[in-house]
Order: sequence, then structure tokens, then C-alpha cells
Amino acid sequence: MAAELEFYVNGRKITESKPDPELTLLQYLRHIHISVRLTGTKLGCGEGGCGACTVMISTYNPSLDKILHYTANACLFPLCSVHGLAVTTVEGIGSTRTKLHPVQERIAKAHGSQCGFCTPGFVMSMYTLLRNNPQPNLEELDTAFDGNLCRCTGYRPIIDGFRTFTKEYCTMGEQCCQNKKKEELLDKTGNIVDASCTLFNKDYQPYDPTQELIFPPQLKIRFKGYHERYVSFKTDRVEWHRPVTLPELLELKESYPDAKIIIGNSEIGIETKFKKMLYKVLISATNISVLNTINVADGGINIGASVNLARFEDTLQSVVNKYSEEKTRSFKAILEILRWFAGHQIRNVAAVGGNIMTASPISDLNPLKVALIII
Ligand SMILES: Cc1cc2nc3c(=O)[nH]c(=O)nc-3n(C[C@H](O)[C@H](O)[C@H](O)COP(=O)(O)OP(=O)(O)OC[C@H]3O[C@@H](n4cnc5c(N)ncnc54)[C@H](O)[C@@H]3O)c2cc1C
Ligand code: FES
Ligand code: FES
Repeated sequence: MAAELEFYVNGRKITESKPDPELTLLQYLRHIHISVRLTGTKLGCGEGGCGACTVMISTYNPSLDKILHYTANACLFPLCSVHGLAVTTVEGIGSTRTKLHPVQERIAKAHGSQCGFCTPGFVMSMYTLLRNNPQPNLEELDTAFDGNLCRCTGYRPIIDGFRTFTKEYCTMGEQCCQNKKKEELLDKTGNIVDASCTLFNKDYQPYDPTQELIFPPQLKIRFKGYHERYVSFKTDRVEWHRPVTLPELLELKESYPDAKIIIGNSEIGIETKFKKMLYKVLISATNISVLNTINVADGGINIGASVNLARFEDTLQSVVNKYSEEKTRSFKAILEILRWFAGHQIRNVAAVGGNIMTASPISDLNPLKVALIII
């Protein structure tokens, strides 16, 4: 059983001997750990809706032998869930004191930051997109910010700045206005021919993915130790258990019948923060492999309860791409709903099982699942 919570923040190892299961990652980053005190990640709504608290979470996936990066809302991410993971905050990628990251530089130069409260969140969503794909396309860019709100800029300058990272940024080749001097952009009367070319100074540093912060090697080397071992933390009020097998989970549930199973915390987090519910025993089901399995067969798809909605979406999309229209019509209906389901940050952590068990009367997915009789 792991005695300490261990994770990395911006490449630095953090160890906590008595982590509080009631704390979120955001509270910890901003206020708790005296030497961490990273206030760049903002608290906006506190309920997963605005994206001001967006951070990048990275983990090693041994079956793919790949490092996976995803965005998450630190305001709902339980501190105890971060064991064995790497967290990157806006401070970790660059700053005015050291050097701005190209993502930070371009949003600033394109006037994509006004009050600035949303900016760290937008920066981290863009940064994560680039870590997974150094040259995204426009469609990926358009959907990357579905979990980020800005009340000042109208979004246009943010997208203008970030468009410069895409493949389709400019199709004009040599004729691109970036290659022209200012005089060449004026007509005979001295007016600017295309105002959009001069809206911001495009003299920015190139993006070089090889210069990014590396994933902490220890998290890969000691993967089993971090992810395949039972972990438990407790305070006087709340206990946190993270079993790694189904029998362990069932034993816990037998010992603590009132225990709450937790995965993405996107529902429980709202109940504990805003409805002041207290769950004295929490059982995290994130690391139980049988609950994280997806089996695609000719007769249908089996999806483990802990599979997050982003993976669920990717799987359905690949099935839709592979099988004929009449076999996949219901999956297309689910995909259409998932597009409107929260933002990336929530879908990256919220689970299929969590959605079913919440049994919310306003759930988007459950009526569809019932109608399609897929469960
Ligand atoms: C900003 C925001 C937007 C949202 N948008 C939508 C939306 O558009 N549509 C919608 O339908 N919902 C929405 N939700 C609700 C929520 O995100 C989903 O219901 C989500 O799927 C819950 O999953 P979770 O893993 O986060 O659940 P958790 O909060 O971890 O758990 C939720 C419930 O499920 C139970 N549970 C979890 N796993 C298991 C298991 N394996 N066995 C038994 N019980 C289990 C828990 O005990 C708890 O009662 C939103 C939430 C937020 C915060
Ligand atoms: S503070 Fe709004 S999503 Fe976290
Ligand atoms: S710049 Fe003010 S909220 Fe976006």
C-alpha cells in the first residue's frame, strides 16, 4: 500500500504524506503546498464550466507505450487522484520572467487576452492540443476550446492567434501577408487592403515541439508501482481508497456499504462543494483494469464503467468509420450528443459508469442509451 501521494508538477516531484481527500488539485496548487503556490491556474466557476482552471495531465500508457496528455479542470480534480501523474500548469510552460511559450506569446500578440482571467485556461487547452499534435487542423482548433469561456474578447482574437499553429493557417504561399512589408499591404490611396493582415504583429517565435518539458522518466519506469498498487489516504473526516482489482473494490464495498465509488468527480465534486454532502469513504475506481476495458466485437461494444467519455467518443468514432451505416446509426446519435456534453476537460475524466449512476433527470446520454437499448 502506498504511504505517500507522489506526483509531479511542472517537472518537479511532489510528495505528500497526509493528502486530504477533500482537496481539489486547484486548491492544492494555489493555496496549500507552501513551496508550490502556483496561482497562474485560476478559480472561476469552481464547477467545471469555465475552464479557467485548466491544467494538462500526463500519464504513461503501457499498452500503447505512449505518453498521453489531456486537459482537466483542476477545480474538480481530486488531489488524491493525481498519484503517479504529471501535472503541467501555465507556469510550467513559460513566463514573462523567463521566456513566453509560443502559445502564450501568440495569444498575447493577437490581443486574445483582456482581463486575462480565462487566458491560462485557453493557453493550457492549446498547449495540450499541440503536445498531442504539433500541427493541428482548423477543425481540431475549433473544438479544442469547448470547455473554455471568455467574457471579454469575443473569442475571435484568441482563435486568430492560435490559428497560426494550424496547417491551413494560410494557403497563399509566397503571397501570404506575413511575407509582405506593410507598404505592400496598402492600396493607391494608402488604405490597408486587408485589415486582418495587420491586426497583430506576426513577428513571433516558431513553435518547436522538441523543446517541450519531458515527461518525468520515473513515472514511466515505476509505472506499476504507481498505478497497479492499492493506495489509501485518510484524514479524520474522509478516507480515500484506490483499489486496483475488482475483488479489492468489492471487499471495500462490503466493509463500507455507504462508501461512494468515484471516478471523474464531475458529479460528486458538485455535490460535496455546493450541496455540502459528506462522503466519509471514497473508493476510486480509476485504476481497475477490467473497468477500463473496451471490447469491440461484431455483435456490439462492451465498455467498462470507468472508461472516460473522451475514450468512449474515440471508440464510437472508429467503429462508425469502420462499419456500415445501418450498423452504426445509434453510435452516430451518441456521438452527436457527446459533442454537446460539457467540454473536453470534463469528458477527459468523467466516466460512462459515473454518468449512468448519477441518473440525472437532465442527463443527455441516459435517455439515448435507454432508447437505443444498449445497456
Ligand atoms: C461542467 C459539467 C458539465 C456537465 N455536462 C453534462 C452533460 O452535458 N450531460 C450529462 O449527462 N451530464 C453532464 N454532467 C454531469 C457529469 O459530468 C456526468 O454525469 C459524468 O459522466 C459523471 O461521471 P464521473 O466519472 O465524473 O462521476 P463521479 O462524479 O465520479 O460519480 C458520479 C456518480 O456515479 C457513481 N459511480 C461512479 N462510478 C461507479 C461505478 N463503477 N459503480 C457504481 N457507481 C458508480 C458515484 O458513486 C456517483 O454517485 C456535467 C458535469 C459538469 C461538472
Ligand atoms: S474554475 Fe471554472 S472550470 Fe474550474
Ligand atoms: S480575457 Fe477576460 S475573460 Fe477572457
